Amino acid sequence: QIKGFVFDLDGVITDTARLHTKAWHEIADQVGTPWSHELADKLRGIGREESLDIILRAGGKQDAYTDAEKTQLATAKNEHYQRLISTLTPQDILPGIPEFLHDLHEHEYLMSIASASRNAPAVLERLGLTQYFPKIVDPNCLHTGKPNPEIFIKGAAILGLEPRQCIGVEDAAAGVQAIDAAGEISVGIGDKDVLRGATIVFPTTSTLTLANISGRLKEAA
Ligand code: BG6
Ligand code: MG
Repeated sequence: QIKGFVFDLDGVITDTARLHTKAWHEIADQVGTPWSHELADKLRGIGREESLDIILRAGGKQDAYTDAEKTQLATAKNEHYQRLISTLTPQDILPGIPEFLHDLHEHEYLMSIASASRNAPAVLERLGLTQYFPKIVDPNCLHTGKPNPEIFIKGAAILGLEPRQCIGVEDAAAGVQAIDAAGEISVGIGDKDVLRGATIVFPTTSTLTLANISGRLKEAA
């Protein structure tokens, strides 16, 4: 029986995936890596340092920067990202999410956040959603990022639940893989071809409701 929901943040609760993308695009231009949608999709859900490595490798520049320079690039990206999120308001919560969270809360489902982002608490604060998420996985405590299941296993554990009692919600292919490997039911938000491994996929958050999830899970079973 499902007792909890473990949420990714960026691209699920709010459209900050777009802001991460914007900030990374600028770094890619700076280091001379050609930008593409495929590269942007590859970066979804991936931590800061690893994302930079992917961008450098995509441009054949993996050995062109010292560790200190890489730290500078990652810091520059983060400062840009933090400027972008500083103007977020509750208006930036994705369609259907306020109603969905309210409904989950009313039905006494437990909820946690499994985001790779060290900026997640600041984003939740700006969106006015901290009251729904007293439990957030601290990405600093993780050994391995998504697609490793660790973050979603922890997301269940901080709720006192087993993974099989949880539904994970993700917009990233790496995140869906992590949910599946954790042994949770995976709900993908986005393109069903990109999120192939997901138990069920919704194209956007606007139709994400408890009734639709249980209907679609019955169809999928
Ligand atoms: C994930 C995003 O949630 O967090 C990634 O999908 C991002 O795009 C990662 O790189 C790390 O975020 P931050 O804010 O710690 O750099
Ligand atoms: Mg995401």
